[in-house]
Amino acid sequence: MAENKGIKTIGVLTSGGDAPGMNAAIRAVVRRGIARGLTVKGIRRGYSGLIEEDIVDMTAKSVSDTIAKGGTILYTARCAEMRTPEGVQKAVATCHKFGIEGLVVIGGDGSYRGAEKLANEGINVIGIPGTIDLDIACTEYTIGFDTAVNTAMDAIDKVRDTSTSHERCSIIEVMGRHAGYIALWCGIANGAEDILLPEKYDFDEQKLIDNIIDNRRRGKTHHIIINAEGVGHSASMARRIEAATGIETRATILGHMQRGGSPTCKDRVYASTMGCIAVDLLIEGKTKRVVGYNNGEFSDYDINEALAMSKAISEYQVEIAQSLSHNYYRSEALRAADRS
Ligand code: F6P
Repeated sequence: MAENKGIKTIGVLTSGGDAPGMNAAIRAVVRRGIARGLTVKGIRRGYSGLIEEDIVDMTAKSVSDTIAKGGTILYTARCAEMRTPEGVQKAVATCHKFGIEGLVVIGGDGSYRGAEKLANEGINVIGIPGTIDLDIACTEYTIGFDTAVNTAMDAIDKVRDTSTSHERCSIIEVMGRHAGYIALWCGIANGAEDILLPEKYDFDEQKLIDNIIDNRRRGKTHHIIINAEGVGHSASMARRIEAATGIETRATILGHMQRGGSPTCKDRVYASTMGCIAVDLLIEGKTKRVVGYNNGEFSDYDINEALAMSKAISEYQVEIAQSLSHNYYRSEALRAADRS
């Protein structure tokens, strides 16, 4: 372990949408920091708290009984003021006032932009990927995705039971503003007939309608469509599908329930590991880095490089999802013959 280059006080904050496992990361930062001789301050409500001096002293005890809890004990916010030079200056002033020399920012890309500005002003900053959306390019893992996708999968299983009983078509909308990872993973895990991804959807609703009619002809008594939030409009889509197919169709929007709940083992362990790595990096004197996990290993990246990276949804995984669905089970020729 590298020796401490002189840093005494660090801060930790959560920013952007909350994600299950954030508490495990906070706990790790606090306990690892204390174990390595640091004073740790908790900043409440993300960058808003940094600007408004909403700072609390953290002890090993203050993070007791938090690892299994969803949400974030430090609260979170999306802070528009941090995008202004005045906001950044206020945040820097708070760091100086409270002696915060290093800061761990748990959040997504938007949070790293604020972190980068603080780093440019001399505050050492390390980012940890925290978002259920899995849409941070430099890492295959983000805190909360595993829990969220399991929560969504369980909910979709339940919707499927009632959809089958009523022989309905069900459109289930999952979160993911610009990213279809939750939709794609649930589509595979729940055996959906159709998966609508913001990265891929061609808005060909007639194709969806044909799929539903074909499946019904072949004796399939329900039809599950997983719709990503980025595609949206589930309720109106349900009305149009029902009118076109004559099959009762319902829309269910899972919404914020996907962000809550007790984190999975994976989220607890990976978040704890990332929290410790972030503290170790600060102690080594590192700044402007984001912790990531790729190919079975944790590593760290320059924030600007991380922000410049792009991440595409896996074409292979999309093709796998399609090949396992009833719609794609037979060749187009066979389906056409079926229709004639
Ligand atoms: O980024 C996480 C996320 O849950 C997205 O999937 C969703 O689009 C967004 O946050 C919702 O944000 P809010 O809770 O602010 O409405």
